Amino acid sequence: MEKTFVMLKPDAVQRNLAGEIISRLEKRGLKLVAIKMLRIDNELAEQHYGEHKGKPFFQSLVNFITSAPVIAMIWEGENAVQVARKMMGNTDPQKAEPGTIRGDYALFTGNNIVHGSDSLESAAREIGLFFSPGEIINYKKELEPWVYGD
Ligand code: RTP
Ligand code: MG
Repeated sequence: MEKTFVMLKPDAVQRNLAGEIISRLEKRGLKLVAIKMLRIDNELAEQHYGEHKGKPFFQSLVNFITSAPVIAMIWEGENAVQVARKMMGNTDPQKAEPGTIRGDYALFTGNNIVHGSDSLESAAREIGLFFSPGEIINYKKELEPWVYGD
């Protein structure tokens, strides 16, 4: 089953939105298979957001993501990468539809609450950056047939 990397950014933790966002992903039917809280250091921030190096917002992005703890997670499900991205909404919360996480809880691109991998390749890379294989839990949930059918 497909896995994606989702991270609750410092603003989500500081604004007490962690439970709400985790709850949305759970209720959708995605399965949480790894979770940890950490304070991202500069090196990890630059690796995670390496594709944006050189862009005008890069330094403020690194400053923001290292400014307070984040919650890193792996969620599993059919098309998990695209499902999670759709639930997050547009990068710019002003453009994100109501009903999406950013469209409901954020107003500013720099503080847009949540990160989600944008492709299968990014998911594999980001999962490897934040988790060791032993931290990813492989388990079954009895409700899976109710989510996906038999
Ligand atoms: P993320 O990687 O955080 O999940 O966000 P995303 O895929 O929707 O957007 P991406 O293009 O990867 O940008 C990463 C983060 O950089 C900040 N950003 N600022 N000022 C700007 O024009 C600008 N563009 C991007 C945002 O915080 C975005 O989430
Ligand atoms: Mg991105």
